[in-house]
Amino acid sequence: MRNHRQKTEAEAEYWNKKADNEYCVPDIRNLDTNKDILYIWDDPVIEDIVRGEFRRFIINKALEKKGGDVLEIGCGTGWLSLELARAGMHVKGVDLSEKRIAIAQRYLEQLKKKENIKGDIDYIACPIQEVLFKESVFDLVVCWDSLHHIQNIESIMRKTTQWLKPDGQLIIFEYIGLRFLNKIIIMIIYALPIISKTGLFKKIRSKITNDTSTHKAPFEGITGLEMLRAVKRFLEVKIFKTTLAISYYVAPYVCGNRSLKHKLVRLLKRLDDAITNLHLLRGQYMFLWAIKKAKDC
Ligand SMILES: C[S@@+](CC[C@H](N)C(=O)[O-])C[C@H]1O[C@@H](n2cnc3c(N)ncnc32)[C@H](O)[C@@H]1O
Repeated sequence: MRNHRQKTEAEAEYWNKKADNEYCVPDIRNLDTNKDILYIWDDPVIEDIVRGEFRRFIINKALEKKGGDVLEIGCGTGWLSLELARAGMHVKGVDLSEKRIAIAQRYLEQLKKKENIKGDIDYIACPIQEVLFKESVFDLVVCWDSLHHIQNIESIMRKTTQWLKPDGQLIIFEYIGLRFLNKIIIMIIYALPIISKTGLFKKIRSKITNDTSTHKAPFEGITGLEMLRAVKRFLEVKIFKTTLAISYYVAPYVCGNRSLKHKLVRLLKRLDDAITNLHLLRGQYMFLWAIKKAKDC
């Protein structure tokens, strides 16, 4: 049995290795649009159709406290921290992968030479469990696809609550996995003529040839329910919903020229929203907005 430190090191090693592949996005406004579309973020329009509303929700909430202090837990190579800094926030981006933080830092330094970023970012390479902040320092804490990798979630939520200012907020956009029924429906859609089989084939080939992509991260597996329970213990949940029941895995492979493809993806997203809002299928992601409870103030 590995102890906590060994597990943390294994997790860091996994994400450091992944820093060398396609999972690294330091800036969603500067994506390589010439490469094959394997993931939604390989096409900024598709990325925006599928995940834009969640990103905008975060930015709008941050803007309620103009020039406020934001913590991003598990910031990876920093695209969301960067968007928040562009909106004028003072951001702390924490990630346990030194390599990812190095990429984020390098990108930021280069960008500062060409772009006037209103806010600022302080990147910290450290497991969130070990980072030290004073109490009541953040207006907003965000987790984007990172919390389900983090052990001791109750303790992290307790600390998050302490780090938040009295009217502070937490926003989470997290992977919670695909159910069997979603997988069957996705497979059926993959068989339809609107799906590019070449795109799918390329994605499968990239998965097989890329060592680390075929494995789950050592800590992956914190469920949506666990996250929701942990947040509810310390914060008041204002919005909780699951989203993206099918579109996350379907959108990148929709056929057609750019314009047709984007129209079809928009349609797909609307259909997906209706399906998840009516609870016909559970989404692959959860979206949660919570505020600090009055009694914790
Ligand atoms: C799926 S990636 C998402 C990264 C980023 N939020 C994004 O959207 O590109 C999960 C991230 O969580 C980070 N992570 C995992 N465990 C962590 C921990 N205990 N403390 C801080 N970061 C952690 C990983 O290094 C990785 O960068």
